[in-house]
Amino acid sequence: MCQLVGGACMPGPGDADMSLICLSDFEAYAKEHLPKATWEYYAAGADDCYTRDDNLQAFTRIRLRPRMLRDVSMTDTRTTILGTEISAPIGIAPTAFHCLAWPDGEMSTARAAEAVNVCYVSSTYSTCSVEEIVGAAPDGFRWFQLYIYRDRKLSERLVRRVEALGYKALVLTVDVPYTGKRRSDVRNNFRLPPHLKVKNFEGIFEDQCGPDNYGVPANTLDPSISWKDVHWLRSLTRLPIIVKGILTKEDAELAVEHGVQGIIVSNHGGRQLDGELATIDALSEIVETVHGRVEVYVDGGIRTGSDVLKALALGAKCVFIGRPVVWGLAYKGEEGVRGVLQILAEEFRLSMALSGCRNVSEITRNLIHSSKL
Ligand SMILES: Cc1cc2nc3c(=O)[nH]c(=O)nc-3n(C[C@H](O)[C@H](O)[C@H](O)COP(=O)(O)O)c2cc1C
Repeated sequence: MCQLVGGACMPGPGDADMSLICLSDFEAYAKEHLPKATWEYYAAGADDCYTRDDNLQAFTRIRLRPRMLRDVSMTDTRTTILGTEISAPIGIAPTAFHCLAWPDGEMSTARAAEAVNVCYVSSTYSTCSVEEIVGAAPDGFRWFQLYIYRDRKLSERLVRRVEALGYKALVLTVDVPYTGKRRSDVRNNFRLPPHLKVKNFEGIFEDQCGPDNYGVPANTLDPSISWKDVHWLRSLTRLPIIVKGILTKEDAELAVEHGVQGIIVSNHGGRQLDGELATIDALSEIVETVHGRVEVYVDGGIRTGSDVLKALALGAKCVFIGRPVVWGLAYKGEEGVRGVLQILAEEFRLSMALSGCRNVSEITRNLIHSSKL
C-alpha cells in the first residue's frame, strides 16, 4: 500500500516487510549474509579508506536551519533530471557485478528503479547485458555508464548499443585512469566466479589470457584519456553526456566548456584516490562555478533523507546511491532495492516537511547553517 507523497510511492502500513527501516539496516543484513569476499568487494575503499568514510562523516558536519509554520500538509518530492520527471531526487549510481548479490542482479535493480520511477545508471561492468536490463524493465528511465577504452571501437560499439536500446544519456566515468588500490580485494585475490561474466563484453575478450582486472583483461582502460576524448565522444553521439568523477571547480569549468550536459560530483565512493575530499564538501564550489549552465548531481555517502536534503540545499539537482542498492539486492532482490529507494525517498519527504519545504524548489542554500557556506 502506498501513501502518495508528491508522486513518490512510499511504504505504507500495508507493506509486507517493515523489519528493515533504514539503509544501515540493509547494510547490516548484507554484511551478515553475503560471502566475505563479496561483502568486502562492495564495501572496499582505497588504501586506508579515509575518503570512503569521510563521504559519510562530512554529512554529519553540516547543520540545517529549518523553517516553521509553513503548512507542510502536502509535500511534493518530484523533480526532473535532463527534462525527465522522477518521483524523488534520488537515483541509482552505477555499480558493478549485481549478480554477486542476487541471482538476476541488474535485472532486479532495473525492475525496482522502474517501479519507483527513478533513474538507474547501469554500469558497463554489469553481470547482465544492457539488452537483458532493458528487457527486464522496458519502461524504465536509464542512463548508461561508460569508460573510454584503449580500443575506442569498444566504447563506440557500447554507445551504439545503448542508443538503440533507448538509454537517455551517457555517464562518462573520468576518475579511473587506473583502478585504486583496494586492499581487501588484493588480499582476497578478488575475482568474478566462473559462472558470472561482464555480460556487456560477452564474446569479446574470451580468447584473451593474461592478467585480469575485475572481469576484463588488465590494460583495457586507457590511462591516456584527456578532455579531447570527451570531445571525441561528443562528436560520436547525440545523447547527453554527463561526466562522473569531478571534484574541483577547474574541472567543472572544463566539463562545461567541452559541451557536457551534466556533472556528477563523485569520488567513486572513496575507491580511487584516498585522501581526496568528501563529495558533499566538493559540491558547493562546483555548483558556484557551473552557475546553472549544466545540471550538477552528487554521489557518495548518502544514507538518509536528511543527506539528500543537504545535497539539494547545496545545489545538487539529484543524488545517486551506490552501495545501498547492492545491500537491497542482497536482502531480497527487486523488493530489497525497492525498499531501499522507498525508505530513502520517504525519509527525504519527512526531512523536507520538517524543514518547511513543500517542494524541491523550496530547498535552498538558506537551509544550510552558515559555517558550511
Ligand atoms: C561495488 C562498487 C562498484 C562500483 N562500480 C562502478 C562502476 O562500474 N562504474 C562507475 O562509474 N562507478 C562505480 N562505482 C562508484 C559508484 O558509482 C558511486 O560513485 C559510489 O558507489 C557512490 O558512493 P556510495 O556507495 O557511498 O553511495 C562503484 C562503487 C561500488 C561501491
